[in-house]
Amino acid sequence: MTIIVTGGAGFIGSNFIFYMMEKHPEDRIVCLDKLTYAGNLSTLAPVMANPGFRFVRADICDREAVFRLFEEEHPDIVVNFAAESHVDRSIEDPGVFLQTNILGTQTMMDACRKYGIKRYHQVGTDEVYGDLPLDRPDLFFTEKTPLRTSSPYSASKASADLLVQAYHRTFGLPVTISRCSNNYGPYQFPEKLIPLMIANCLNDKPLPVYGEGLNVRDWLYVEDHCRAIDLIIREGKTGEVYNIGGHNEMRNIDIVKLICKELGKPESLITYVTDRKGHDMRYAIDPEKIHSELGWLPETKFADGIVRTIRWYLDNRGWWEKIISGEYQNYYEKMYGNR
Ligand code: NAD
Ligand code: TYD
Repeated sequence: MTIIVTGGAGFIGSNFIFYMMEKHPEDRIVCLDKLTYAGNLSTLAPVMANPGFRFVRADICDREAVFRLFEEEHPDIVVNFAAESHVDRSIEDPGVFLQTNILGTQTMMDACRKYGIKRYHQVGTDEVYGDLPLDRPDLFFTEKTPLRTSSPYSASKASADLLVQAYHRTFGLPVTISRCSNNYGPYQFPEKLIPLMIANCLNDKPLPVYGEGLNVRDWLYVEDHCRAIDLIIREGKTGEVYNIGGHNEMRNIDIVKLICKELGKPESLITYVTDRKGHDMRYAIDPEKIHSELGWLPETKFADGIVRTIRWYLDNRGWWEKIISGEYQNYYEKMYGNR
C-alpha cells in the first residue's frame, strides 16, 4: 500500500511515520509537508534514505502540486495531519488556520475524489467539543457531544471535520475522523506546554503558567495516538468518528511542578502570566468506542511517558536548541514579552 502522510515533518506526523515504517515495512510512505515553522526536515533524517519513503515539499492548499503527487503515487490511503496547530498563534492570526486547516483539507479530499482512494483519514482534535467544567468530573466528550469551539484553531478543525463528513455523505468518500486529546512525546515543538516547560527549565528561564494553572488537559503519549490511527485506517468503519484518549487528566500546574522535580529545578521558576483569551477549562475524552470496537487501549502510563519525554529532550538538545535560537525567538518575545 502507498500511504500519503501530510504534515509528517511535524510532531505527531513524524512519530506516525516512524511507527508505520517499523510496523508495516511493506508499505510505502510519502510525506507531503510545506515545512512551515513547525515542520522540521531534520526530524525525518532517520528514514530519508529508506527506499520505502519519499518526502515532497508542498502546501496541501496547492491543488496543482497535490494532484500531481496523486498522479505519481496512486495512493491507497491519505492521513491528513497537516495543520496549523497552536491555539495561541490562532488567537494572534486566525487567517492561516482557516486556509490550511479547512481549505487544505478540501484540496486533499478533492484529489481523493478525482483519483480514487481506499481511505481518507482526518486527524482531528478533542478541542472541537469545547470544554467541560472543572466541577463536573463525571462529564466526558463522546463522539456524540455537540461541536462547540472556543478558539480560531478549534473552529478551523471543527469546520474541517464537518467538511469531511459532508464529502462522505455527498460524494461517498471513504473517510474516517479521529479526535485525540493532548499528545506529548519526542519531537514536539517547544511552543506547546510540555516541551516549552522542559526547555525553559533546562535554560533556567521562567515557566509561564497561564492564569492559575488549574486548567485540565487529558494527556496521551504520542505513540499510543499513532497506534490508534493505524488501527482506524485498517479496521475502522468509513463515515465514523473515533475519540482517542487515555483517561489521564492533569492540571497544568501539576505538570509544570512535575517537570521541575524531574529536572531538579526550583518551583520558584514558575511565573503566573495573563491567561489565554477564551481559555478552555477542561478536556476529557471518553475512549469507550475505540476500545470496544477496535480493541484499542493506551499502553504508556503518564508516569513513564513523561520521564521518557524529558530524557529525550535532555538527549536531543541540538534538535530543540536550533529551533529556539531562530524565528521562534521572535515569536517568544512577542507572546511572552509583556505578559
Ligand atoms: P505540528 O504543528 O507539530 O505539525 C504540523 C505539520 O504540518 C508541520 O510539519 C507543518 O510544516 C505542516 N504543515 C502546516 N501547514 C501545512 C500546509 N499548508 N501544507 C503542508 N504541510 C503543512 O502539529 P502536531 O501537533 O503534530 O499536530 C498534527 C495534527 O494532529 C494536527 O492536525 C492537529 O490538529 C492534530 N492534533 C494534535 C494534537 C496535539 O496534542 N498536538 C492533539 C490532537 C490532534
Ligand atoms: P498547549 O500545549 O498550547 O495545548 P492546548 O492549548 O491545545 O491544550 O497548552 C496546554 C495547556 O497549557 C493549556 O491549558 C494552556 C497552558 N499553557 C500555559 O499555561 N503556558 C504556556 O506557556 C503554554 C504554551 C500553555
